[in-house]
Amino acid sequence: RDIGARTLEIVDEMKALEGPLLPILHAVQAEFGYVPPEAMPVIARALNLSRAEVHGVVTFYHDYRDHPAGRHVLKLCRAEACQSMGGMALEETVKKLLGIDFHQTTLDGTVTLEPVYCLGLCSTAPAAMLDGEVHGRLDAAAVAELVAEARA
Ligand code: FES
Repeated sequence: RDIGARTLEIVDEMKALEGPLLPILHAVQAEFGYVPPEAMPVIARALNLSRAEVHGVVTFYHDYRDHPAGRHVLKLCRAEACQSMGGMALEETVKKLLGIDFHQTTLDGTVTLEPVYCLGLCSTAPAAMLDGEVHGRLDAAAVAELVAEARA
């Protein structure tokens, strides 16, 4: 079914909510795995917003993505405990290995890199999550292994 029509159904179900934009974006992303560009004008029209406003919200909240994710999603923790344990250097290593920045997906569609703000693993910082599985005490070698696993 086409994205516009399905989005309209979601919007119709939810637009009576108070502050409907975030729950609608949430439902649209749950449906498609991302918030497709074709969905944004449908949402904008129904809520009396401009497309730019809807797009702005999608890009502001890192929970939403405006393109499909890669087959694997690697999340690196950027919160304080991990930062103080060398998270920044790990970040650089991973970005270099993948050749992408946060919120991007490798050209072959394999890996999406996202920041996350605390995984509850502060005592084993620095931490990351690959496809929902958490990994702590990462160093350059361990993180390179994770990347290799994601790309395999
Ligand atoms: Fe990274 Fe808590 S700060 S897991």
